[in-house]
Parts: sequence; structure tokens; C-alpha cells
Amino acid sequence: MKITDTGDLWWKNAVVYCLDAETFMDWNDDGVGDFPGLAQRLDHLAELGVTCLWLMPFYTSAERDDGYDIIDFYGVDSRLGTHGDLVELIRTARDRGIRVIADLVVNHTSDQHPWFVQSRSSKDNPFRDFYVWRADEPPDTSDQVVFPDQEDSIWELDETTGEYYLHRFYKHQPDLNVANPHVRDEIAKVMGFWLELGLSGFRVDAVPYLLEGAGGRDGNPDGDPHDYLRSLRSFLGRRSGDAILLGEVNLPYPEQIRFFGDGAGDELSMMFDFVGMQQFYLALARQDARPAAQALRDRPEIPVDAQWATFVRNHDELTLDKLTDDERQEVFDAFGPEESMQLFGRGLRRRLPPMLDGDPRRIRMVYSLLFSVPGTPVLFYGEEIGMGENLDVPGRLAVRTPMQWTAQRNGGFSHAEPDDLVAPVVTGGFGPEHINVAAQRNDPDSLLNFIGHLARRYRECPELGWARGEVLDQPHHAVLAHRCTWDDSSLVAVHNLSAEPCVVPLVLDDVGPDTELVDLLQEGRVTCSEDGTVQVPIGGYGYRWLRVVQPGSRRLV
Ligand code: GLC
Repeated sequence: MKITDTGDLWWKNAVVYCLDAETFMDWNDDGVGDFPGLAQRLDHLAELGVTCLWLMPFYTSAERDDGYDIIDFYGVDSRLGTHGDLVELIRTARDRGIRVIADLVVNHTSDQHPWFVQSRSSKDNPFRDFYVWRADEPPDTSDQVVFPDQEDSIWELDETTGEYYLHRFYKHQPDLNVANPHVRDEIAKVMGFWLELGLSGFRVDAVPYLLEGAGGRDGNPDGDPHDYLRSLRSFLGRRSGDAILLGEVNLPYPEQIRFFGDGAGDELSMMFDFVGMQQFYLALARQDARPAAQALRDRPEIPVDAQWATFVRNHDELTLDKLTDDERQEVFDAFGPEESMQLFGRGLRRRLPPMLDGDPRRIRMVYSLLFSVPGTPVLFYGEEIGMGENLDVPGRLAVRTPMQWTAQRNGGFSHAEPDDLVAPVVTGGFGPEHINVAAQRNDPDSLLNFIGHLARRYRECPELGWARGEVLDQPHHAVLAHRCTWDDSSLVAVHNLSAEPCVVPLVLDDVGPDTELVDLLQEGRVTCSEDGTVQVPIGGYGYRWLRVVQPGSRRLV
């Protein structure tokens, strides 16, 4: 592998960190986080080892879906700052070696967007075709809604013209008609605008829904919707050689893989591994690693310049929609038995540490696994310190509470009155008095320092970003052993999902008595025998990253 490849495909071993400026750090004490506050905290991210910052929507919005309901694609939410503040943030981040990407939410707009205001005003308005309208009464679509607690159809009757408009999400989020070339042109201009301001790409919201209407609708019923995704990627590449599209595509692997572009790698650069994440929770709940191992085996081969984005928590409900009803119930029973912890009948509105009763061994084991499975890890703000959720806050907002910086009032997020905060802070055992950055910075044994350690080791191990990885056979059901090899770097990772210590026998056919397996996370090493077998002791909820060191290797251990 040449140094040029690794530099160009920077996302192959990036550490991504997602946050909403609104809840991160308030610098003008109005109760709402802002860009100047975030800029002040970039050193925290740099120290943690973050190399790519994903900003949740910061655009002018109606704020009925936390910014995912946009009124002006070129605007900046004035509570967060100005375009100037955003550019300063991007520049400062670049200085710290951090690229910035942002949500691109173009499946729909807010119903207050000027295009929709025009579109709904009359059937012959020039913007009518910017959205998807039907005159006839729609069939029952209650099984297709994304938010079943709020909606019972994906079509809404609009009184003014007596026609129905399509909305995959809330009815105040009408879907754009991407079959319309004018809409496509507008979306490209939006991307071009933010790339000029310094973004390194986008997290693309709701990609399958976006593509849904991209094929047939304008006179070409056989059109391939993926042509549209290809055209977005090539536009992106023309405007900015190193920019990425990180897509939200929660589909079974055989359908999902198409969004990388049928082997050509010319559609999305990265996709979240939703299937792997869900199987992983099933494994955690059962304390049996086999579902996670199977998901890793099932992962389809991807083009070399594509990548899986791995995560254990994101800003939405922890969706378990790809599990069977029984499997989902097992995870609910283990991690969210009360109805108030569940959402939409398919997910959990909790963060990881409370689900694991705050058990530090299990929490560390999970993050060790996250950083060691092949792919690019994505952290949601607060995970690095083990923040919990606030179940008193409705719906998905339970996990979008203010970042906990100190033990002081409002967790050091803002000097505003607690009642004036954009969201209430977490209370109880996971509140700022117990969980905060300031205390963990100075504690060598803190989760913060542990995750920083993982991030640094991950960055030193190109095989974790570049290899396909293989699951190693061994007899313990609770254990996941896998190996990543790329060029002259090879790492064996062993994770124990149960409390029972054990010794894991592994057969590594390319090693001999001169080979050593050297621990990368703590002191320790294992020697191989003549026939390539090794015995790896592992504690309850243990984790080991073992660098395979061949004689003469120049890899740092
Ligand atoms: C995506 C986002 C979610 C949002 C929805 C509608 O699923 O992750 O937060 O509500 O799209 O834009």
C-alpha cells in the first residue's frame, strides 16, 4: 500500500465524531450551543483522536424534527452563529487535523420551505413539480410510515388544491421530487455551496427514500435510480477530490451493497453498518458472540475505495428493526424492558452505559470491539465519557441532551438558567456530577482516556481500516476472535462477551515459533507454537488486540 493511497482515502481509517452544535457548548450563554462554543472545544476532539467531525443539521429550520426539517438549505440557524462562525470552525478544525462533514437532508424539506409554500399554492405554480403530488385517493400506506406514533399514511391531503403530497417522514416534511431536473440542479448547488465553504463531504440522510423517486417518474419508467446517486458522487468528485458521501442506508446487506455502486465504488463512499450493529446488540444481550460473528461473515465484499462506518449508538432511536420479533424482544428485555425506554416498537431510546448498568468492563469491551472491527468508527458525542440518556425528554431527544463538561451547573454546557437550556441535562447517576469531561481528563483510568487510547491504536493499525477481516474459528460461544491483515500489518482481536474468563485456542496458519502476538492495549504477549496454534487467555468481558509480529517486522508495538 502506498502512502498516497492512505492519504487520499482518508476516510478508510478516520475516527468520526457526530454532534449537534446546539447541545455541545454554549458560548454566549443563551442556553443554546453554538459554533464559537464548539470551536473552543475542538481541542477536546483532537486530543481524543477524532479526525472527522460530522455536524448534525445546522441550517435554518422549522425545528420540528431537530433541524432535519430545513427551510433554507443555504442558511445557518442564527442561534448557532453565522456563516462566518461556521467557516472559522472549519478552519480551526482543519488546523487540528479534523475534517468537517455535515448532514445533507434532501429527501424532503420543511413545509415552510419557500419551494413548498409555492408548490402547494396552485397546480400550475412553477414549483408544483418540486414535490410529489397525486390527485387520486391513496391506498392504505400505514405500514410504510417511518414514525408510526405520529403518522398513519405517507400521503397528506392538501386542502388548497385537493391533491395529496408524499411525505415519508412527518407530514410537515414533504418529499422533494428528485426526478425533476430542476430539483437535482438545486441539490447540486447546495452541495457545491457548502463544499466551497470548506466541508469535506456529507452524511446523506435517508438515502433509499431519496432514491425512491429518482428512477421512473419523468417519462422513463425503466430509469435506474442509482444513476442519480452516481451523478451526485461524480459531481462531488469534480468539485472536491477528497470529499465523501456517508450514507444512511438501513437495509439488509444484499440490498444495501448496491448503494456502493455494484463493484465500481462510484456511489456512496461509506455506509453505516446497521445490520452489524443490530446483530451486535443481540450478541451483547445473549452474552453469546455468534450473531455478531455471523454478521461480520455476512458483510458483503466492498470496493477498495468504499468503507463501512461502524457504530454502537447514533442520534436516533437504537433501531432493532432488522431483528426478528423474538430477537428484538430479547434485546428489549435485556436493555430496555420498560415501555418508556422503547420507541416506535422497533428501537431503544437509551445510551449504552445505562443499558449495561454502568459496568465499566462491559462498556470498555464494547468500545474495544467497535474500534477493532474492520471499518471506520463513528462516535456520538458524549460516548467518550459514558453519558447516559434522560428519559424525561420525549422520543429520540432523550439521547440528545447537553454535553457534560464539568460537575457544575448545567454540566458546564452553559451559564443560562437551567429552564432556558435547549434541552435538559441528564439527571441521576449519569448526570454531570458523576460523568463529565473535566474529571475524566485527569484520571488515567477514565473511559475518556481509554477511548482516546483506542482511537490512537486504531489510527496506527491500517489493517483495521483497510482489511476485509476474517472471523477466526474457536470453541467459545461467548468469544469473538477476528483477524485483520493488510500489507505487512496484521492484528488478531479477541473479545469476551461473557463474565467467564477462558483460554481461547486459535490456529493461525502463517505463524511459527518465531512469531509473537504483542498486546497493543496493555502489557502482554503470546508466543506461537510450531504448528501455528496459540492459546490466548482472556478475562471476563475481556478484550485483547494482538499485533502479529513476524521476525524482522518494523511495526511499532
Ligand atoms: C434520518 C435522521 C433522523 C431524521 C430523519 C428525517 O433518519 O437520522 O434523525 O428524523 O432522517 O430527516
